Amino acid sequence: MNDNRETFGSNFAVIMAMAGSAIGLGNIWRFPYIVGQYGGAAFIIVYVLASIFLALPILYAESIIGRASRSNTFKAMRTFAPRTGWHWVGILTIVTPILIMGFYGVVGGWSVQYLIKSLSFNFIHTSPDSVTNYFNTYITSDLAPLWGHFLFVASMVVIVLAGVKNGIERFTKPTLPLLMVLIIGIAVYSMCLPGSGAGIDYLIKPDFSKLTAQGVGAALGQSFFSLSLGVGTILIYASYMKKGQNIALSGLGTTLFDVMFAIIAGFAIMPAVFAAGLEPGAGPGLIFETLPFIFNKMGQTLPILSGVVSIVFFFSIFIAALTSAISLLEVGVAYLSEETRLSRRTSTIILGLFIWALGVVCSLSFGSLKEITIGGENIFGFLDNVCSNILMPFGGLLFTIFVGWKMPKPKVYEEFTNGGTKKFNRAIYPAVRFLMRYVAPIGIILIWLSIYL
Ligand code: TRP
Repeated sequence: MNDNRETFGSNFAVIMAMAGSAIGLGNIWRFPYIVGQYGGAAFIIVYVLASIFLALPILYAESIIGRASRSNTFKAMRTFAPRTGWHWVGILTIVTPILIMGFYGVVGGWSVQYLIKSLSFNFIHTSPDSVTNYFNTYITSDLAPLWGHFLFVASMVVIVLAGVKNGIERFTKPTLPLLMVLIIGIAVYSMCLPGSGAGIDYLIKPDFSKLTAQGVGAALGQSFFSLSLGVGTILIYASYMKKGQNIALSGLGTTLFDVMFAIIAGFAIMPAVFAAGLEPGAGPGLIFETLPFIFNKMGQTLPILSGVVSIVFFFSIFIAALTSAISLLEVGVAYLSEETRLSRRTSTIILGLFIWALGVVCSLSFGSLKEITIGGENIFGFLDNVCSNILMPFGGLLFTIFVGWKMPKPKVYEEFTNGGTKKFNRAIYPAVRFLMRYVAPIGIILIWLSIYL
């Protein structure tokens, strides 16, 4: 099987594919509202540090396992640690993505709804208050959000059924840069709105007194979520890398791209939040209440342009969410179709159905099921929390321990430096190994202890 496994064409293609998975709702939707909940600039600093010192080493660990084995998680672990329990880590790579997709698909559905709304050029005529009301009425109703959700999940399943490589990759390459250009443009516009200064201050003047242990844990969770770590997504993508391609480079490129994108999204959203007089800690609805406000402001002077930008923007969010969703589904599908007798088609449909059903429950948890709370959160919030702050760091912890302590040392070195041929990789290898063996695992455990003790 290894011989006819598909591979990416170039380092650039690898970075685009990984960045396509990494850049998604995590950057545009989740990052701004988590920053708002945990107090702004101080949180961002911790997030950047966590991305470099804890998340990047784990991205490297997953890349090393993936490319060294060129197979799914179960098989990879079995190759390097036969007759141990390590391959059970593979379970995490099936269960966690389904749980993530449960709530991710709901937000994907919201983006579908907002795209459809934009198509009618409706948003540019609404006031900030009615935008917020619209969002609240929309998500708390039972049936309305299920349409968008269904369309989102169905698109994901159709694309994975049709084969990821040709369809989606060709689609992502132009839309990702477009999204980048749009978000920069919106950030500039947003920072020029009257009253936006407070939002800029909020993002650049750290107030460490507001930073709690929970906040540090959330920064860790955000860096994992945003880089698609701990559930085997990066592992699977790296398994499609060629031997000559450069793990150090693709990892660094993906991380830089992703962090930059999140921060720019912060500058697109936060100044507008303050300009609109909204609450930065408003939670998951933040961008859905802020963006229409921006478009509506723009619409007062430039109605056509703002209508078009709004359509293109929600479309790009939808695509960015879809490319990430596909990578989440791909991990489970790769596993089921390679390790069980199920075909790729059946695996996709089964997992798709699970994801759809769980998504319906998550969506209803803003409506009819809102009375059901776990630890003070509705089902949606609970799943997000458990996945991002516990399951993903846990998976990442196992991957990094595996590469740091279990996998044969020469193999790790060979994979990371391409058999010693890459000078830069050789130079940073000792530091990366140190980060993988000590800093990342101890960091994750310390952060957990500070939260739960
Ligand atoms: N990283 C994506 C985002 O920011 C979401 C995602 C894709 C993901 N694959 C993942 C999150 C794997 C966790 C694990 O939107």
